Amino acid sequence: MSSGRERRRMNSRISGFYKQGVPDRLDEIVERCDLSAEATEALRDSTDLDLADRLSENVVGSVTLPLSVATNFTVDGEDVLVPMAVEESSVVAAASHGARMARETGGFSTSVSGPYMVAQIQALDVPDPRAARVRLLDARSRLVAEANDQGVLVSHGGGCEDVEVRVVDTPEGEMVVTHLVVNVQDAMGANAVNTMAEGVAPTVEEITGGEVSLRILSNLADHRVARAHCRVDPAEFEREDADLTGEAVRDRIVDAWAFAVGDPYRAATHNKGVMNGVDALATATLNDWRALEAGAHAYAALGGYGPLTSYEVDDEGMLSCSIEVPIQVGTVGGATHAHPTSKAAMEILDVDSADEFAGVFAALGLAENLASMRALVTEGIQSGHMKLHAKNVAAEAGAPEDLVDEVAARMVAEDDVRQGRARELVDELGA
Ligand code: MEV
Repeated sequence: MSSGRERRRMNSRISGFYKQGVPDRLDEIVERCDLSAEATEALRDSTDLDLADRLSENVVGSVTLPLSVATNFTVDGEDVLVPMAVEESSVVAAASHGARMARETGGFSTSVSGPYMVAQIQALDVPDPRAARVRLLDARSRLVAEANDQGVLVSHGGGCEDVEVRVVDTPEGEMVVTHLVVNVQDAMGANAVNTMAEGVAPTVEEITGGEVSLRILSNLADHRVARAHCRVDPAEFEREDADLTGEAVRDRIVDAWAFAVGDPYRAATHNKGVMNGVDALATATLNDWRALEAGAHAYAALGGYGPLTSYEVDDEGMLSCSIEVPIQVGTVGGATHAHPTSKAAMEILDVDSADEFAGVFAALGLAENLASMRALVTEGIQSGHMKLHAKNVAAEAGAPEDLVDEVAARMVAEDDVRQGRARELVDELGA
């Protein structure tokens, strides 16, 4: 996908990034991304209660999340550093690892179906639902024009482009549901499409002879789907200390995916892993992760709940990895621009259209899932988790900074990650 803009050239492969201290990491990102003074300042000092009070109601404080940067991503031929805000350890490491495996074969290629959101208008007590449906479709031009008269989006090149009408069977009888299909351009679009739905509701009542109740967008954003693809050489899965060959790991990943296809209990966890990445980027940039969650799982459930990614072996023996997921995010409007840290996150990411942004989301979800699959079919996820978790346990147990790594490593080696053991080791090593 190309935005037509000349993109910043930058190398997202930062060897040993995770080993650096926070100030050094920040310096590295500031330099690589050529961050503005404003963004740099926002990252150095990230809390603002007045701002929190403007974003929500009844504010009494703010909860801080780590803002991290996933490395190694190449998306559509360009290197990208991906900001992620998430409280769970291993998620950022997994994304960087997934991207590293894909990097060797050129990274991720992405495409997006277009920035289309749907607003729904629910008409109740319609005397002749099927005939009303046809009348609404006949009035398509009038409905589109009235939606676009609401004064949103059209001046930016977007607007309502189509009307769909369904007769929906419900426990309360048949309802006539009108969909406005709206090109929201670079906005997330919720406000714009809700305004349109409210604006055309009187006309829908007039045409159907029914009573309109709900006028609200659908988060099942199946007109706004992002796709990503990558290929991984089985050699990437080889480990000196492992029993399995790269090919065996590759085949087990395909089996793990098949498990998710066959079993919704597994598919839910599989997709949770995908959303670890998607939500973390949404949170870092203050996009609505609840909308993304709702959309992803509803999309995964069309035709029976299943995985959002898929894996197969191509004719060169490579693992071919794909994802398709609705991504409803914007680069204009929303909370992003109200918050200096999320603005800085967008500056790190350096995308300039909602479609380009959506492509990175898809690549990130796929990278996250690929790394989970590799870990799950080999050593399991607990060993990686435990290494990171052990550091927290050591720090919480009062280990001084110069002992945290050693205390953590000892607890992991002993398979005994507890605060009590950490305290014993601090005493032992500090003595
Ligand atoms: C943990 O946050 C995510 C995983 O459970 C995902 C998966 O099982 O595929 C590792």
